[in-house]
Amino acid sequence: MKVTIIGTGYVGLVTGTCFAEVGHQVICVDCAADKIKLLQAGGIPIYEPGLEELVKKNTAAGRLRFTTSTKEGVEKSDVVFIAVPTPPLPDGSVDLSFIEGVAREIAASLTRYKIVVDKSTVPVKTGEKVAETIKRYSKSRVEFDVVSNPEFLREGFAVEDFLHPDRVVIGSRSQRPVQAMKELYAPFHAPIIVTDINSAELIKHAANCFLSLKISYINALSVICEAAGANIQEVANGIGMDARIGRQFLDASLGFGGSCFPKDLSAFIKISEQLGYDFALLKDVQQINAQQMDRFVKKINETLWVLKDKKIGVLGLAFKQNTDDVRMSPAIDLCQRLKKEGAHLRVHDPKAMEKAKAVLKDVTFVADMNEVADGCDALIIATEWPEFKKLDIEKARKVMTHPIMFDGRNLFDVAEMEQMGFIYKSIGR
Ligand code: UDX
Repeated sequence: MKVTIIGTGYVGLVTGTCFAEVGHQVICVDCAADKIKLLQAGGIPIYEPGLEELVKKNTAAGRLRFTTSTKEGVEKSDVVFIAVPTPPLPDGSVDLSFIEGVAREIAASLTRYKIVVDKSTVPVKTGEKVAETIKRYSKSRVEFDVVSNPEFLREGFAVEDFLHPDRVVIGSRSQRPVQAMKELYAPFHAPIIVTDINSAELIKHAANCFLSLKISYINALSVICEAAGANIQEVANGIGMDARIGRQFLDASLGFGGSCFPKDLSAFIKISEQLGYDFALLKDVQQINAQQMDRFVKKINETLWVLKDKKIGVLGLAFKQNTDDVRMSPAIDLCQRLKKEGAHLRVHDPKAMEKAKAVLKDVTFVADMNEVADGCDALIIATEWPEFKKLDIEKARKVMTHPIMFDGRNLFDVAEMEQMGFIYKSIGR
């Protein structure tokens, strides 16, 4: 099928590339000329495992092209995806100006029937507005359908998630575009759920808020575990084996971050408010998340007493493993707080150092994770990178002024760390 993706950011690029990979003809459009130039030259603007290879392979095969022209993209395709950013506004609501702008551009280029698919995360009822806008701004009376098809990609696993989805949600007002959408997704052999547009839009916010609720629940439980002398990992394993609960997203941490959960929570609270419901439960999710970081910093303060001029090593800057993304990263937030108190930081991340350099000043970036602890008064684990489990603990113990570790991701075993002579503080254990 002939598909155009408008917006070649994280979601758009993964979507376009994976559609090309299963044999569709894809045009990726972006208004950023430098980005399109880079992609045309075989470069890639983001780090995402497996993506670069697929972009190269499908570009070479002639199934994937890049352009700055929305008109060309719309004219040459049957299905047009909108995958532009929907950033938060200061009051927590969603900035829909990019969506509206693209809807108008599509309208201006409509010459025959198209399926316009919204993939960006948007408030419920946005599809209705997009349809209204296209109708209003299209010069000809060309027919079109608007479909909602939310993405559920995790950064760091986006290609894998796109190629092997748990489910595909297709929200449509009419039957007409449904068959084509099913054909588009047929190569992925995933269950397809067809709903109305509003429900599809709601599914996305509801899913992300539920996942963040799961994390805040386990984080709240970690407080109880610490107070009661229990172990949060054992509790998570015990409840997670109930198939109705599931073990995933039950890892206690110094809090969740990233470009999705915090933004989607604020947006959904705002949307609910506008629809006349005070979603207090989700406000608690936000509050527990913020308190989790406060509690972690308090632990550091209580153990190290004065932070001024202390040397602290921080392992992890990305908001989670397998990504170079530092947006809303709890690790960066933690570094800023420690710096404010006068600590000198030695930091390392396997992938996110370059991006971190733009937001984190006056710290020492260390290329080798095993050299971060040199001369440090404490070592912190801030991101759940699996390679940190292979840290040379014995070496760290020897080179630190005193072996103290704060593990915000519970990567190590409490008894083993204490046996090695560490003062070891983790989450909920
Ligand atoms: C999320 C959703 O998972 C995805 O479906 C949606 O499309 C976009 O938002 P992402 O933001 O890439 O994906 O990250 P995710 O893997 O969900 O992790 C979010 C945050 O929660 C990270 O900071 C992570 O470290 C934290 N987390 C996750 C925990 O603290 N504990 C857990 O058990 C799981």
